[in-house]
Amino acid sequence: EPGRRQRLLEAHRHAAAYYAEQLLTPEAAVGRQFLAERGFDRSAAEHFGVGFAPQGWDHLQRYLRGKGFTEAELTASGLMSQGNRGSYDRFRGRLVWPIRDVTGDVVGFGARRLLEDDQGPKYLNSPETALYKKAQVLYGIDLAKREIAKRRQVVVVEGYTDVMAAHLSGVPTAVATCGTAFGPDHARVVRRLLGDTSAGGGVQLASGASVGGEIVFTFDGDEAGQKAALRAFGEDQRFYAQTFVAVEPHGMDPCELRQEKGPDAVQALVAGRQPLFEFVIRSTLRQHDLDTAEGRVAALRASAPVVAGIRDAALRPEYGRMLAGWLGMEADTVLREVGAAA
Ligand code: GTP
Ligand code: MN
Ligand code: MN
Ligand code: MN
Ligand code: MN
Repeated sequence: EPGRRQRLLEAHRHAAAYYAEQLLTPEAAVGRQFLAERGFDRSAAEHFGVGFAPQGWDHLQRYLRGKGFTEAELTASGLMSQGNRGSYDRFRGRLVWPIRDVTGDVVGFGARRLLEDDQGPKYLNSPETALYKKAQVLYGIDLAKREIAKRRQVVVVEGYTDVMAAHLSGVPTAVATCGTAFGPDHARVVRRLLGDTSAGGGVQLASGASVGGEIVFTFDGDEAGQKAALRAFGEDQRFYAQTFVAVEPHGMDPCELRQEKGPDAVQALVAGRQPLFEFVIRSTLRQHDLDTAEGRVAALRASAPVVAGIRDAALRPEYGRMLAGWLGMEADTVLREVGAAA
């Protein structure tokens, strides 16, 4: 019922306030040091609501009990974990980021390990609850939504610190998934903000492409990032036709880039985006020796299905011709291969 949801939202609001307050305690020095080392000052921490969960089993539990929340409400909130001796604080000795929905309500938390001898995962998020759906949440969406709509661009980065770094570097359209890959539910959320037709807005083209804006994925440049791009490629192409990829050649993420090269480098990373199809095709070509005829034919065979998979009928032959250029082959040969791969 709606009253129950309100109670859970209230618990999260209190928890966020508690964690933010804890960041100022002596115990949280390690958390403040982490932020300082990443180039985040106190006002940045406040802007993003970063907090600290102290070590111990029941600090938050007692705080929320004091605010009148019941055992059942605390269990449903996901803020407590269940053990055989009862429930205990899920986040302990970690830096904590409040994850808000598009309207700005806190629906969950992401928390980073601070001590090397902590055996837990580096990042721990809220579990699935009535409020928190990891397939839908995008960290930073509440802060980015106006700029996303205005610039008609969303930049998807990998982590909480990357969202902070991007916003502080003049890329206020950055959001991040929380411990999961970008999927169709995330796409629906950003499409709505970009004004995509099938999500209510934008311009539908005869080819089936919809003009809503662009989505730019930044990856660390590692294998995982490339896999994520390929996964994205396989999904909803009516949307992904306007999908770009920005890969930092040295594998730096936006947080590292801002620190080592400054805010302009973060903006330049986004400005240097490549269309997803181009990124995928060029990645495929790199796996072949284009100096030999056999290598070029093998590269053609490997990349033709990618081009054939482009659903936009106007865009497909364009990529066929571009592929011919990259391979140094006749366009006819390439287009025939693409036709055969369809
Ligand atoms: P930092 O040192 O925190 O900057 O880490 P990183 O840049 O190596 O982070 P990485 O690129 O590996 O991860 C980026 C994002 O992936 C994080 O913000 C998390 O949302 C998620 N992530 C990373 N490690 C874990 C993990 O162990 N568990 C979960 N659930 N998510 C993780
Ligand atoms: Mn990574
Ligand atoms: Mn990593
Ligand atoms: Mn990082
Ligand atoms: Mn990273």
